[in-house]
Amino acid sequence: MKIHPLVKEVLYTRKDITAKCKELAQVVNQYYQENSQHNKDNTVICLGLLKGCIPFMAMLLLDLEIEVETEYMTVSSYGGGVAGNLNPEIMFDLVADVNDRDVLLVEDIIDSGKTIKLVKDYLLGKGARTVKVVTLLDKKSGRKVDLTVDWYGFDVPAAFLIGFGLDYEERLRNLPYVAIANVEKIKTWTWEK
Ligand code: IMP
Ligand code: MG
Repeated sequence: MKIHPLVKEVLYTRKDITAKCKELAQVVNQYYQENSQHNKDNTVICLGLLKGCIPFMAMLLLDLEIEVETEYMTVSSYGGGVAGNLNPEIMFDLVADVNDRDVLLVEDIIDSGKTIKLVKDYLLGKGARTVKVVTLLDKKSGRKVDLTVDWYGFDVPAAFLIGFGLDYEERLRNLPYVAIANVEKIKTWTWEK
């Protein structure tokens, strides 16, 4: 495996993540199979938060055996750097009407919880019947708001992470692993042309 020079430590390999996605998909399948029966034509809206959700959502979707529709939203967050944004905003709204629908929010990582809380409240305000949350990574120690995370893949340390959807300055989302970034090196880093 080729390791990017901005990596300090690889936390989860592609193999680890693949296995975890299968596990999460099974739990999600089971939950909706048991809880949506009374409303059979209500397929689940799988709502990914761009751009970080892409690798995780792609992997998770392929093991979902329930009927789903896919939707996406963009919420401003880190603005590319290593420090969090205090007040996330909706930049791109989803297309489907969520009124009376079951929504599954799919996120790469939850830190303060502000992004997910904003989206969850927004969807419930639009009449969503249920809003569940699945995230690949949960940075529990960063939590600043009260939020229920229904399913998470890995409990991660309070470090700046890169790869598998997570970016630094919009790059590194394509690394096939999740790693702790070398923040000392990042400060003076210039991207190759
Ligand atoms: P929250 O609103 O603080 O929960 O932030 C969630 C968003 O911040 C995620 O969707 C990510 O886009 C971004 N984020 C949080 N932690 C990291 C990280 O360690 N690396 C890269 N992006 C992160
Ligand atoms: Mg994100």
